[in-house]
Amino acid sequence: MLKKMNFKHFIYALYATVCLSFTSCKEQATIAEAKKLTISEGFENPLGFYDKMPTFSWQLPVSEGVLSQSAYQIVVASSPDLLPDHADLWNSKKQQTAQSTWIKYEGAALQSRQKVYWQVKYWNQDKQASKWSEINHFELGLLNNNDWKAKWIGLDTKKEKVLGSQNNIIHRPQYLRKGFKLSNDVASARLYITAKGVFDVAINGKDVSDDVMPPGYTPYKERIETITYDVTNLIEPGENTVGVEVAAGWHSGRLGWMESYWSDTETPKMLFQLELIMKDGSKEMILSDDTWKGTTSGPIRVSEIYDGETYDANLEMPNWTTTKFDDKTWESVKTFPVTEDIRLEPKRHTTVKSKIELATKAIIEKDGTAIFDFQQNMVGVPLLKVPMKKGQTLKVRFAEKLSPDGSFYTENYRSAESTNYYTASKDGVIEWMPKFTFHGFQYVELSGFDTSKKPSKDWVTGLVQYSDFEENGTFTSSHEKLNQLQSNIVWGLRGNFFDIPTDCPQRDERMGWTADAQVFAPASMFNADVYKFWASWMQSVRESQSDNGAIPWVVPDVLFNNKVSAGWGDACTIIPWKIYLKTGDKEILEENFETMKGWVKYHESVTKNNISSMGFFADWLQPLPENGDNKGDTSKSLIGTAFFAHSANLTAKTAKALGKTEEFKKYNAIYKTVANAFENKFFENGKVKDVAETQTSYLLALAFGLLSEEHKANAKKHLLRKIAEADNHLRTGFLGTPLLYEVLDATGEIDLMYKLLFNETYPSWFYSINQGATTIWERWNSYSKKDGFNAQKMNSLNHYAYGAIGEWMYERIAGIAPLEAGYKTIRIAPVPKEPLTSSSASLNTPYGNVSSSWEIKGSDFKLEVVVPPNTTAKVVILANTKQALLLNDTNFKDNSNVKLTNTDKDAFVLEVQPGTYSFQSKLK
Ligand code: BGC
Repeated sequence: MLKKMNFKHFIYALYATVCLSFTSCKEQATIAEAKKLTISEGFENPLGFYDKMPTFSWQLPVSEGVLSQSAYQIVVASSPDLLPDHADLWNSKKQQTAQSTWIKYEGAALQSRQKVYWQVKYWNQDKQASKWSEINHFELGLLNNNDWKAKWIGLDTKKEKVLGSQNNIIHRPQYLRKGFKLSNDVASARLYITAKGVFDVAINGKDVSDDVMPPGYTPYKERIETITYDVTNLIEPGENTVGVEVAAGWHSGRLGWMESYWSDTETPKMLFQLELIMKDGSKEMILSDDTWKGTTSGPIRVSEIYDGETYDANLEMPNWTTTKFDDKTWESVKTFPVTEDIRLEPKRHTTVKSKIELATKAIIEKDGTAIFDFQQNMVGVPLLKVPMKKGQTLKVRFAEKLSPDGSFYTENYRSAESTNYYTASKDGVIEWMPKFTFHGFQYVELSGFDTSKKPSKDWVTGLVQYSDFEENGTFTSSHEKLNQLQSNIVWGLRGNFFDIPTDCPQRDERMGWTADAQVFAPASMFNADVYKFWASWMQSVRESQSDNGAIPWVVPDVLFNNKVSAGWGDACTIIPWKIYLKTGDKEILEENFETMKGWVKYHESVTKNNISSMGFFADWLQPLPENGDNKGDTSKSLIGTAFFAHSANLTAKTAKALGKTEEFKKYNAIYKTVANAFENKFFENGKVKDVAETQTSYLLALAFGLLSEEHKANAKKHLLRKIAEADNHLRTGFLGTPLLYEVLDATGEIDLMYKLLFNETYPSWFYSINQGATTIWERWNSYSKKDGFNAQKMNSLNHYAYGAIGEWMYERIAGIAPLEAGYKTIRIAPVPKEPLTSSSASLNTPYGNVSSSWEIKGSDFKLEVVVPPNTTAKVVILANTKQALLLNDTNFKDNSNVKLTNTDKDAFVLEVQPGTYSFQSKLK
């Protein structure tokens, strides 16, 4: 063998042998492997994945000797056995870069169904190689319509002409089933499934998943999501049965406000493709086709998102999803071809699930009814275990709050009946939860149960349902009400991330209102792992854009009214840009760039001399409007022009980040021109002219950079005057509120921002907390102990928009903000102020966990920070800088991990390498 080797090979072989036996060799894998491998927007080992050109990300471990990455290598293969040395799909080779996130796959083209394995290794700052990471994997779903061999199937659910609460057509839920026989044992089975409607599937009597109302809610005329399940363990040798329940859901149920918008033209349908690989290597497919049978005579009689579900246990069909059932009385289904016009694509974020169980905290009994109180406003369904007598019908009503006289407050559900009925088929304790509806509530009222039994707390459990994401950060402080506000923000998030970002979860809306989304998206990114959730909804936004560039009020656009509103449609520029800042992933910018350009063009089309006439909801729900209007006092034209400039600016920034120089110049020029026109039209020497002078008009001008340099100070003075005139209270609605903290912070008015945040009186964040809020309310005064409910029916008690403040709480009170997109450099600069004595936050960034935790004791200020590997932090420590700074209890001196870069009058500024540190300074 030696003979065949040339000298060079011989030396390599010798080197390799020596390397294996001596730890000092450079290429020896001595350092800990990369962790938390994910693909695209943060998917871990997904099944039924949507993206055949994924990106790869990983985190360096928190481990001795690992500060940063100097290089990486990714290997991708069609089988784990080929890794790491024989990667047949892609070998990135060693790339000298610190980049450890969003690396684009550049290997062989991937196909529907393909299972892909990958791992990564990195080299640290000293060029030492890590071990190879664990092998991760993903499996693609069906990527193209022509992968579907199945047909849409369903029954004629309109023929009974059942009418709903608004005389809308109700489609009876359908039960569809098929039996089949396998001659061989199965090695692996994948179910690809979706519905025009929502579905629940079982195989051989067992639930396939605990997904709630899949496939979810997209612009159905454009795209329907498909779901992939691994059902290998549910398939039996020989006889098998599959059963699918299908209800109208968002597809063919009533949605929106006006009759003509209800989707009463198409009956719900289901698409089913079970692909089996048998132990002998052969393949079989079970498809939805004309061999299936169905009935609408099952126990779920009616199910409506707004109105609720009706269940009759007398109509239960035991074992209908098993072979032990005779379907001879069932009808044959109708079939419909899969067409090209509606794209079928694997779901690109997680399905809704029951995530939390809330126990009943108190029961109020009244005239044969029992009201169960969770002491927390929530969204989902109740799990009922209630004693009943045969033939009784249980009525289940919901409310977010009780009226002061103890009665159920349901006016704010408007036309949503939000009521469930359950008819018992025998005496005993029933166990039931509705399947194809959801409710926003704190209270559940039961009537029609066995009144010989005393209502007990275990009769009702609240199942909290939302898209299946995990929490991403924590925030806490020494102040009870601030902590309650944080809790209310998180509950607002849980309540309104039901597959799409909704305005509210309870009344006859629950729609993807675009302004609400853009205002709350940044705060949501701190609190939950929702990048995929937003990226997915942004796809729906793109699909909902008209040819002229208009972005509708709600996405999916169930209002179909082609109407736009400034600050609403701008979700298409604001959300991608904010997400980019939080993730560093340019893909979100690439995906949305054309949409942004289209929207700027639309803005342009409704301007004259660069002044906008777009208008519409304006600074929605501004408190104490002088004109008494929900749209507030700020000029619509001023708002429209401001958002035109802002969207042009964000489009310019996006172009720059994407390296599109010409487009950057173009959109930056539009921004400048519009800003100029804005200032000339609405301002003189920094003071609003000719239109109502409001806090929001100044906030828009300052936050969006629309004033010339020499007038900014004046504008700020006028803003402060407006706030002072309001007795140091906010007067901002949906659009102005998130700009309040941005502007006051950027202009050094942090004391004032603290004042506004800690105000107890109306209008303020704590006002609702003082009135007992456990979620964020739609209005600053939705309810008061003194005056009761706001007289308007549009009065949701679970509306996340004002929870936008959560962004500032993380970024400035606790102090964690990205200095560079994606937290490659982090700013840890808390602004501790009275009445707080401590606060802390932690956040999972793309590089790992960062945390900041401070405490003031007397004149001592203590700050503990954790900086994740492969990042650097700029840490700003409040101090009387004439006094010493301590690091880990000893006098601070510059070292390789921490360098003092600046000493201000009242702060030390440090550059900090990854690690855990405890700083201490003197405030006086
Ligand atoms: C919704 C919103 C939305 C608004 C538009 C309301 O009915 O609940 O939050 O943004 O309409 O003005």
